[in-house]
Amino acid sequence: MIGVVGLNYWGPNLVRNFSDLAELSWLCDLDERQLGQIGARYPGARTTTNFDDLLADGSVDAVVIATPVPTHYALAKQALEAGKHVFVEKPPAMRAVEMDELVALADSRDLVLMPGHLLLYHPGVLKVKELIDNGDLGEVLCVYGNRVNLGIVRSNENALWSLGVHDLSVILYLLDEDPELATAQGSASIHPGVEDVVFCFLRFPSGKIAHMHLSWLDPHKMRKMTVVGREKMVVFDDMEPERKVTVYEKRAGPNGELFSGDISIPKIETTEPLRRECSFFLELIAGEHDKSKVARDGARVVRALEMLTTSLNG
Ligand SMILES: NC(=O)c1ccc[n+]([C@@H]2O[C@H](COP(=O)([O-])OP(=O)(O)OC[C@H]3O[C@@H](n4cnc5c(N)ncnc54)[C@H](O)[C@@H]3O)[C@@H](O)[C@H]2O)c1
Repeated sequence: MIGVVGLNYWGPNLVRNFSDLAELSWLCDLDERQLGQIGARYPGARTTTNFDDLLADGSVDAVVIATPVPTHYALAKQALEAGKHVFVEKPPAMRAVEMDELVALADSRDLVLMPGHLLLYHPGVLKVKELIDNGDLGEVLCVYGNRVNLGIVRSNENALWSLGVHDLSVILYLLDEDPELATAQGSASIHPGVEDVVFCFLRFPSGKIAHMHLSWLDPHKMRKMTVVGREKMVVFDDMEPERKVTVYEKRAGPNGELFSGDISIPKIETTEPLRRECSFFLELIAGEHDKSKVARDGARVVRALEMLTTSLNG
């Protein structure tokens, strides 16, 4: 049995999926109007404005948290302490020390702690990972992400925390390393103190480097990740309706100059990433996959976010 907390913008997407995949028994939001609206669509689920009601119900195995980021740590901690498996939207904590505490808590109680890094369940990202891991690209040299557009400029969350967390989770997943250096520079031109444009640079112990351009002030709408390997290069472009992954070969000229070679479009699955993500959580609860790795990978993202934030504020 599953309870979902936070039902405004993103929560209803999780509710829709979990109600298809599992038994949805509770819906929770502080806002009565929101609760009433979503609750009316799922008459089988009980509704409450008090998170404690979910935790007190012994038949609830797992809670799904889709509240604002600053509330994640406290709610996830409460749920783990109550013996519930936890799916928590990204990032589960705002400080590495808090995330480490959640990871240790989940581990000591043998519970699932899964951060909602949606892109890690995107078939395009999984394809890029496969190309890297099976050596198709050769040694990976650098990765860079572009997540830019004109859009809602949040007044309480900067572009690094709102947009960058997606790319960071993908970069760390693809490279499977903690950065030894993570620097960021940005500017806040709309809401004072809240960066709307951020450039980040990361260097890894293996020598690989990565970059992220994050912005709400840009003429392009880009959701793109490029991986440059010694042999081939691959681009994951989530704005492309069909050709989401493109592999570029290169060839050397007689004087060592590089020319573009064949371009190919690998076939990828069409499963909705959110459906995969929700199914994965249920599979973790059922004992499939490595649950401690999922939690530890989430901690790696929070650590890197913290390094970037320190640099941005410095
Ligand atoms: N994976 C994705 O692609 C994606 C996309 C959008 C948002 N998100 C994440 O989802 C989360 C929610 O985002 P949103 O845009 O829906 O936020 P929101 O602020 O629009 O909604 C949050 C809801 O949580 C409720 N809430 C807050 N504290 C609560 C508490 N203690 N108990 C019960 N209800 C509480 C609020 O009343 C509100 O209805 C954030 O962590 C965000 O980062 C993820």
